[in-house]
Amino acid sequence: MVDNSELPGFYKLPMSERVAELRRIAGLTEEEAKTIAQTGGLPGDVADRMIENVVGGITLPLGIATNFRINGKDYLVPMALEEPSVVAGASKAAKIAREKGGFTVTNTGPVMIGQIQIINLPAPDKAKAGLMAKKAEILKKANDQDPMLVSLGGGAKDLNVKVLSSLKGPMVIAELIVNTGDAMGANAVNTMAEAVSPMVEEITGGEALLKIISNLADRRLVRATAVFEKEAVGGEGVVDGVVNAYAFADADPYRCATHNKGIMNGVVAVGLACGQDIRALEAGAHSYASRTGMYKPLTTWEKDKDGNLVGRLEMPMAVGLVGGAARTHPTARASIKVLGVKTAIELAEVMGAVGLAQNFAALRALASEGIQRGHMKLHSRNVAVSAGATGELIDLVAQRMVDERKVRFDRAKELVQELSKGKNDA
Ligand code: MEV
Repeated sequence: MVDNSELPGFYKLPMSERVAELRRIAGLTEEEAKTIAQTGGLPGDVADRMIENVVGGITLPLGIATNFRINGKDYLVPMALEEPSVVAGASKAAKIAREKGGFTVTNTGPVMIGQIQIINLPAPDKAKAGLMAKKAEILKKANDQDPMLVSLGGGAKDLNVKVLSSLKGPMVIAELIVNTGDAMGANAVNTMAEAVSPMVEEITGGEALLKIISNLADRRLVRATAVFEKEAVGGEGVVDGVVNAYAFADADPYRCATHNKGIMNGVVAVGLACGQDIRALEAGAHSYASRTGMYKPLTTWEKDKDGNLVGRLEMPMAVGLVGGAARTHPTARASIKVLGVKTAIELAEVMGAVGLAQNFAALRALASEGIQRGHMKLHSRNVAVSAGATGELIDLVAQRMVDERKVRFDRAKELVQELSKGKNDA
């Protein structure tokens, strides 16, 4: 809490002065202010142009998931996140999937939907018919906004018009169906939606209110599949366990939210590393999961005739390589180079494979030893160090805590004493 959160003119200050002002108001130490002001791999001036009121940056670990073979090609996958076990889980899953050829991923093309809401219409069905009759003109007006996209084969391809009955009575929604090529497409689609609005008003006699992209990108899907060999999974019991875990998610939204969260651990981590709009990815994923009116898993799991585990993922994947942070953030650019993807579609396919891999890793762990063991292994070393363990004692203390399933600071302290005494006595 601060005395007064009104900071007139704050946005006009150079970044260094904003930091100084913040330090004063929030009572930061010099060290804390310095930490906040660091922008890591993102130059300060670039950060300052990306959003408003910039004072610094926050850095996340960037890990590389290994072993991925997708559509016959190998990839090293950059992942940015704060959670342990995710990169290791993805790498392990990809290693098992490789035995049976890796991941096969297809996509439905980079197609987004731009919505124009038309209100105050006395005869909505007549307005709909009027819009459909002028479809060619509307699409032309939309495409005039982005000749570059059109020259590359993209652009507004179709018009869909629907009449909604809403809280405020009937309204008409005109939807531009736009192939956004290698862009995520929000800018292109929003520009087109705004540009056609006066024409839409003239045709319908109504008022065009909202003009905005839909994040329910159900025309921009990826479908990933992989076979996981039963012995590598951990045997028949674990294969059955994963299928049962999936059945649980399918039957219960409380479990399903966590099931899909595990998928997004992978999708969002790659998205973040590659400068994507991860809020759009989350919105797309969860709205797609609810499209039937019930919240469902984005993956399915079954046993094939040989007893191997077969996983399938289907979800929207609105990502781009041109525009946005994918272009302006140097770390994102370097991550995309590591990944070696050449098109937005290829990036989307890799992310679909990682989502499936991540879901497999989580379900396999949950259906066998549980996830805490893996989590705790990493965590235990941090606890050991914070309790004063050094050198070889770190691993000794960490291992004992994991074996005892007591990864706690107080236990670490006791073990540091006990084990260092033992060492000194010897
Ligand atoms: C933790 O970040 C993700 C999991 O909870 C996913 C799941 O439960 O399937 C392990």
